[in-house]
Amino acid sequence: MAETRTTTSHYAVQKVRRADWLQYWKDNQRVKVTAESVEMVDTPRRMKRGVMVSADGDAPSLNLDANLHSIEPGVVSTIHRHSWDAIMFVNQGSGWTEVNGRRYEWRPWDTIYLPANAWHRHGGSGDRPAEYVTFSVQPMVELFGMAFLEDGGDTPYEELPGPPVTTHGMTGNDPYSRRVARLHDHQLAMEETRILTPFEDVPFRVQPRGARSGFMVDKTIGHRTQGITTVMHQLAPGLYQSKHRHGGEAWLYCVKGEGYTIIDGERVDWKAGDLVVVDHWAWHQHFNASETEISSIIRVHNFDTLYFAMAALLAPLNLLEEPEKLDAPPDISSIEWPDYDQGRPSA
Ligand SMILES: [Fe+2]
Ligand SMILES: [Fe+2]
Repeated sequence: MAETRTTTSHYAVQKVRRADWLQYWKDNQRVKVTAESVEMVDTPRRMKRGVMVSADGDAPSLNLDANLHSIEPGVVSTIHRHSWDAIMFVNQGSGWTEVNGRRYEWRPWDTIYLPANAWHRHGGSGDRPAEYVTFSVQPMVELFGMAFLEDGGDTPYEELPGPPVTTHGMTGNDPYSRRVARLHDHQLAMEETRILTPFEDVPFRVQPRGARSGFMVDKTIGHRTQGITTVMHQLAPGLYQSKHRHGGEAWLYCVKGEGYTIIDGERVDWKAGDLVVVDHWAWHQHFNASETEISSIIRVHNFDTLYFAMAALLAPLNLLEEPEKLDAPPDISSIEWPDYDQGRPSA
């Protein structure tokens, strides 16, 4: 039997642990990852991968990660599955992604949702390499002790093991039967999620904050995720969005155009391919630096689970704050908007 020899108290251990944890978080926080700083590396998956934010590229985080991927025309990746879900946003080129045996064709600015535990592989088509960026909750799932990744190589989908099975058919009204039935229903609902969001199907609307926005991955258009959602915000030429702040981080990936974000008084410039991380509680406001073109940025965060839980756990702290009167551009309704797909590559 192991003998406890420690002389430190529970109190002291906890205190040091908390301080170390916050220091680790602080040390790894970043405000911007530029497109040029991303190094694309060959992987055994027959694709190239460039880490924007991930422990695999010495840029760890605790909630979301971001990676850039490219695949040559005619190449098919290995098939794999993992216990976290992910979002793919296509920058350029065309190809397809097969999710649980079903193929989805995609082209620039389409979004693909990859559900947890779903077998998936990718193929490049067209005549140039396709490039897409992914965001996932891999770090959060690892933090919860539930992260796994299984690479199936070139095994056909039909021969791969099926998804984790939830027991069904328990009809009792006792707490155990109710739990089994409830979790089965929950899992079925998760499986009904939407996968592909073709860009031309995204309804864009002008928001009270001043941007024109469209849901790419969201409950309202049929997704069931582990908490991650994506919206594209478009800033009108020469204009901006009303400032606000919130708990949790918001990640902004510039798809097209150029602009800057004022984060707690500091200006952070961005252009296509850059990622900006807005820290929690930081007041922020996005501006379009161009007088002639819209700038299109996608916003990714984990509000639907993690931040909602935090909002409840931390109440009465207010996790979303705005000025009493929004400082959006005056007379939003009269803004002249270019086409919502301005600058979208054809392939
Ligand atoms: Fe994957
Ligand atoms: Fe925000």
